[in-house]
Amino acid sequence: MTKTLRYLKPYTGTVILGLILKFIGAVAELFLPLLLEWIIDDVAANDALDGSGKLKWTLVLGAAMLGCAVMALLGNIFANRLTVKSSGRMTHDLRYDLFKKTSYLSSEQVDSFGVPSLISRLTSDSYYVNQMVARTLRLGVRAPILILGGLILAFSQDVILACVLLACVPLVGITIFLITKKSIPVYFSVQKKQDEMVRRTQENVTGVRVIKALNKSGYEVEKFEDVTQELAATEFRANRIMSLSNPLATLILNLGLVVLIVVGAVCHSSTGAVLAFLQFFVIILNAMIALSKIFVVISRGSASASRIESVLSTDTTEKTGDYPAGDGRYRIEFRNVSFSYNGVENNLEGVDLSLYAGQTLGIIGATGSGKSTLINLLMRFYDVGGGQIFIDGRDVRNYPTAELRRKFGVVFQNDFLMAASVRENVDYGRGLTDEEINKAIDCAQAREFVDGLPGGLGFDLAQKANNLSGGQKQRLLVARALAASPEILILDDSSSALDYATDAALRKALAHSYAGVTKVIVAQRISSIKHADLILVLDDGKVIGAGRHDELIKSCGEYNLIYSTQMGAEREAS
Ligand SMILES: Nc1ncnc2c1ncn2[C@@H]1O[C@H](COP(=O)(O)OP(=O)(O)OP(=O)(O)O)[C@@H](O)[C@H]1O
Ligand SMILES: [Mg+2]
Repeated sequence: MTKTLRYLKPYTGTVILGLILKFIGAVAELFLPLLLEWIIDDVAANDALDGSGKLKWTLVLGAAMLGCAVMALLGNIFANRLTVKSSGRMTHDLRYDLFKKTSYLSSEQVDSFGVPSLISRLTSDSYYVNQMVARTLRLGVRAPILILGGLILAFSQDVILACVLLACVPLVGITIFLITKKSIPVYFSVQKKQDEMVRRTQENVTGVRVIKALNKSGYEVEKFEDVTQELAATEFRANRIMSLSNPLATLILNLGLVVLIVVGAVCHSSTGAVLAFLQFFVIILNAMIALSKIFVVISRGSASASRIESVLSTDTTEKTGDYPAGDGRYRIEFRNVSFSYNGVENNLEGVDLSLYAGQTLGIIGATGSGKSTLINLLMRFYDVGGGQIFIDGRDVRNYPTAELRRKFGVVFQNDFLMAASVRENVDYGRGLTDEEINKAIDCAQAREFVDGLPGGLGFDLAQKANNLSGGQKQRLLVARALAASPEILILDDSSSALDYATDAALRKALAHSYAGVTKVIVAQRISSIKHADLILVLDDGKVIGAGRHDELIKSCGEYNLIYSTQMGAEREAS
């Protein structure tokens, strides 16, 4: 938790000022019973004072009480404001760093944390840390001062009555401690259930179209209802346990008061002293209840803090190696590459390929055969398990990541567009010129539809580009990949929504305008990769055919089968 708390350091001044104000407020509050006692015992019951003297002193001490009450109020209000300020800013800094760290995590690290868990660390966990800091600053100083100060003042007034008070404090403390201890695990399960609810909500919002298309809204609502029911039940359980603490503490307090009055009567204590002790009792009790609440938020917050810290302390420094060089004649070379996501079974095995600059590689194969995995390895989102991958004769693990990634223009499978203008989407913060953007839009066959949009390049896309068709989205994504004139262009299943004519025009434009660019094209349709210099046919992570289209038709049964099936379908369609 220390790492998280270090985020408060820049706001030390604000925190200290807040604590001083809290201290002043708490001390002022403690003086109230004392002043009351003086009014009753030393003024009202003082026979040495005449009527006007009594009035004068009552007014003076009454004014002092008012002053203390105002000071306690103002001290609290201003201290709370400062607390909100420092805890809010600290949470902002923490979230910022967490977000930054999350964006630098490697794909393997993201896989190991899990996306929903990373999201809940950024949202609910950082909220719990905020609550922990804010509550502790608000009550963590005030409550102990009230308890300790209350006891000291009580002892300074009447030792016997103070002993009654002192005997009640541990009793109340133990009761509250036991109840709180019991409630903490239940609060943790509330936290877990909340995560589950966030995950469900997210899935629902993201998959709203699929859910509607499959007519599953009712089913989803039912599942959501189950989760919220469970959450409500767990929250109820936690609150039911905690709700015991107030009545039990009050019971002990009332019993203590009875004892106090009896002891007061036996020892002939003054009315003022008994009244003042009554108030000390209430102040101390409330402070103890406040402490128990801090106990809960600290337990919850520290669990969240350690979840956040485990992300923050993940090593994201670049690991560049010193692997032997490959054949410098090739732009891309794979040598006996194998890889496994889970370390158990290989998702790619013994892949060899070599490609000169400007050549095109086509990859085809059933779903799950390893096509996207091959691209993940080429771009070094994951490191190979065996073998080597070279770009221009240099192992990809020897490149600094930024230098390596700059070589690529890529459209991932199911890639996304931002809710921003067409221009911003193609430019993607790279400060490209209009000429570069327009060239990319022309080549990606997006000119006609972009010009037809209201505002053209300035047209604003909706969230997830829902105001564009599937084919329009794919063309913009291709434009984005082309716009920075990459050395290697990767298109992973990114022409599936284009009609045959547009797909063909795109291929022609790529060959013409980006002739020097090496292209890696993953496709389901043979027509998309037919003209490639090298086609790989993947099956279950293995290369079962490699060569040009004509060669594969003869040598690879699987390829031949896909081809004849697709040709048959095309003939039937026409
Ligand atoms: N992040 C991951 N963690 C674990 N396994 C994964 C991960 N990504 C892919 N896999 C597994 O690796 C195998 C190859 O997946 P890959 O995405 O490369 O297939 P693909 O050929 O691109 O399929 P598709 O045509 O459906 O896109 C599959 O069995 C898949 O379940
Ligand atoms: Mg894929």
